[in-house]
Amino acid sequence: MERRELLRLLATAGALPLLAPLARAAATDDWQARFEASGAPWKTGFATPRGDLPLTRATVRGRFPDAVAGTLFRIGPAGHDLGGERYHHWFDGDGMVHRFVIDGADVRHQGRYVATPKREAEVRAGRRLFEAFGTMPPGVEPPASADSLNVANTSVLPMQGEVLALWEGGSATRVDAHTLATLGVKTWRADLAGMPFSAHPKIDPDGTVWNFGVSAGQGLLALYEISPGGTLRRAAVVPVADMPMVHDFAVTDRHLVFLMPPLVYDGKRKEAGASFLDAHVWRPELGMRALVVDKENWERRQVLTLPAGFLFHVGNAWEEDTPRGTLIHIDYVRSDNASSVFTTSREVMRARRVKSPDPRLTVATLDLAAGKATQQALAPEAEFPRIDPRRVGLRHRHVLHATQTRPDVPGFGAIARTDVENGGSERFSYGAQAMVEEHVFVPDGAGPGWVLGTAFDFGRQKTLLSCFAADRLAAGPVAQATLPYALPLGLHGAFVPA
Ligand SMILES: [Fe+2]
Repeated sequence: MERRELLRLLATAGALPLLAPLARAAATDDWQARFEASGAPWKTGFATPRGDLPLTRATVRGRFPDAVAGTLFRIGPAGHDLGGERYHHWFDGDGMVHRFVIDGADVRHQGRYVATPKREAEVRAGRRLFEAFGTMPPGVEPPASADSLNVANTSVLPMQGEVLALWEGGSATRVDAHTLATLGVKTWRADLAGMPFSAHPKIDPDGTVWNFGVSAGQGLLALYEISPGGTLRRAAVVPVADMPMVHDFAVTDRHLVFLMPPLVYDGKRKEAGASFLDAHVWRPELGMRALVVDKENWERRQVLTLPAGFLFHVGNAWEEDTPRGTLIHIDYVRSDNASSVFTTSREVMRARRVKSPDPRLTVATLDLAAGKATQQALAPEAEFPRIDPRRVGLRHRHVLHATQTRPDVPGFGAIARTDVENGGSERFSYGAQAMVEEHVFVPDGAGPGWVLGTAFDFGRQKTLLSCFAADRLAAGPVAQATLPYALPLGLHGAFVPA
């Protein structure tokens, strides 16, 4: 059809039957073209691997200690574009799960897309069919259930010889720990099929797994208690007014603790066509609510209030009995506002760097008897906090976290270990041309333990896996594996010893 003829048709009511396909074409935007045209050397971290990544041996410098012999599983958004259209948010992409198999001087890597029903259907169709966390692609279909939108891209929970690929809006997805083949969704109990199971479960020292899920539209918070053997002990939902975006939580000896930023779901915005993210409204007058739930009796709940702020992640929490009642100490990564999720994590998808206020490691104290909450920011900017897994819910000293923000490069350039009691912090910088991913703590008996994590060296366009002595971070890696390629930047991981 001639362009002039097309315009004439558009100008007439007779063109109505053409409107649907034309609307699809017109809504195709320039994000893919902007990303491809960008000369930013770090953009590879947000590129889409065209397929699965077969088991590949890395080049290793040094020798990985015996305590880290095993597998580091990691996951993150990887399928960012399809059919020439690019998602508008880092968190939207189809999940790719990775395993780094570590044995002394031998390190091998494998990456595999999680074969969610959403990815399978969309790859077959050659285009997006469903909405995503921060993007409403044109012409998407209404989802049959939350799991129709599940991209399994946020975190991993190794359990009973399998790996659960986690996403916070729906079910966990079962993945084979050796082949990374997708085995289907995890259903904890028949009546809980499809319920949201968040990406940051917490494991008590006795192996009990605690988790939650947010049903934003219903204003309900689901709670889960799972035995060390992987069977569900209890699940229930509790109502929450002005339901916020809750990504992570904490456990203590006797409590579950939810820090709730004033980023509140508004169902009317969703009905009007907003993405899930854009259906949220910043309401600082609510402050940061701290919901404390009794582990034994979920009906016993208390809400305290901190100044308004935003968070994704909690480091740890522990409780202290004093003559005047129980204090809960909790450290988390606090930002002044939610611009990192609305802007920074969006603009990277067209290879633009827009900096948000630095997130800071912050220590809060919840005085349950007085109903008062206070907090203090520690100096370092931070993200991806992790602690010694043996200290979950117990008094801890050290938090591992990414640090060192830069004006022109997204993410972080260094890894740090910060003492939350005195604020002291030791760091190792990967240099100006690297982006640090989450590093985990690997215990080694009664010793200081090890720090294990990945980074994207965009100077060389390669992904690194490094191991440090936990008490000598600044001395640099004791061993480092270099992959012959760059991986898409991921989110969270978990180490399983051999
Ligand atoms: Fe997270």
